[in-house]
Amino acid sequence: MTEKKSTGGLAGVTAGKTELCTVGKEGAGLTYRGYDIYDLADNATFEEVAYLLLHGKLPNRAELDGYIAKIKSLRGLPDALKTVLEMVPAEAHPMSVLRTGVSFLGNIEPEGDFANQLNVADKLLACIPSMMVYWHRFHTDGTRIDTETDDDSVSGHILHMLHDKPPPALHEKSLNTTLILYAEHEFNASTFAGRVITGTLSDMHSAVSGAIGALRGPLHGGANEAAMELIQKFESPEEATKGVLGMLERKDLIMGFGHRVYTTSDPRNSVNKAMSKTLAEEAGDMTLYEVSEAIEKVMWDEKKLFANADFFAASVYHFMGIPTYLFTPIFVCSRITGWAAHVMEQRADNKLIRPAADYIGPPLQDWVAIEDRA
Ligand code: COA
Repeated sequence: MTEKKSTGGLAGVTAGKTELCTVGKEGAGLTYRGYDIYDLADNATFEEVAYLLLHGKLPNRAELDGYIAKIKSLRGLPDALKTVLEMVPAEAHPMSVLRTGVSFLGNIEPEGDFANQLNVADKLLACIPSMMVYWHRFHTDGTRIDTETDDDSVSGHILHMLHDKPPPALHEKSLNTTLILYAEHEFNASTFAGRVITGTLSDMHSAVSGAIGALRGPLHGGANEAAMELIQKFESPEEATKGVLGMLERKDLIMGFGHRVYTTSDPRNSVNKAMSKTLAEEAGDMTLYEVSEAIEKVMWDEKKLFANADFFAASVYHFMGIPTYLFTPIFVCSRITGWAAHVMEQRADNKLIRPAADYIGPPLQDWVAIEDRA
């Protein structure tokens, strides 16, 4: 019999098969269905990537046009969902808002037969951005926005709803690129949570609600918000260097650095970093970018830790006028594609996911009546 050893946090453990993505394989830092992330980031739209993940192939022109039209037609929010979003307090975290929104949608438009799964995925892809900005605008400026914009892209839709006008081309393109970079990442914590839920033959809304809960934490998707809070503390690169050295001395975690799978760099970082620089130049203020670079240098010099996808994504979003508390929800607007694709892949060859644990509790004990207990 092979000896079973527990591995902290399941690091290095292969927990299943996927056709969707490779992470950190030699010669190919990150691929979606065999396509290199750099080719996708340079050439694709997020809608093409969503189609690739959900349908298994890149769409041709007619398929893409049809897909964009379908997503646009699904952006509206049912009245009952709008009422729920209005009832969620202004102080709630928008990740909790999305968790509730997706869960509520699962009540009023249940998935039912799994044959409906692609329609559910499309509805979630189309209306998660609507939920996010509807709640945000209602609670910040009292506006009940129309979520049915005419923008072709998800990135245009998000920025249009946020700022009440179609976005500048550079912002739409940059957000499009970050959505591509965030769309899929193999068996990360939130995706794995979604697959565990799916493995019980539960519905897609439950899997996605669970995945949102997992993504929220600062060790996972929440890192982009935490990175922004860190960067904004410093007014100059010198101050940042000194501040981060102090944090390292105190053994603080620096959010936006390190990765469970990548060992020397995160392939998404160079793309985000270049976009952050371009957007800083456009804004005519390099401080945030230079502070970020200084933090990146200290982390590498001191700890050989590299910036992950979340670190420079923070300033990219900031330069587009996206409020910090929406950074992780925007991750959801993208990762819904990967999650839904994993739900479908899990169902196609399902097996209940139920690992074992090493027991470290007390040995078998005698029952003690309540009056005899210490
Ligand atoms: N800041 C400071 N030290 C860090 C660090 C960070 N961001 N990431 C890892 N380390 C240190 C750990 O403290 C640990 O040091 P030790 O061996 O002296 O105890 C060592 O590096 C190994 O880290 P560990 O936490 O065991 O790695 P992991 O694989 O379990 O964790 C992360 C991976 C992503 C959870 C971890 O790097 C982290 O917490 N990063 C910050 C959060 C983040 O950016 N998350 C988004 C990931 S895409």
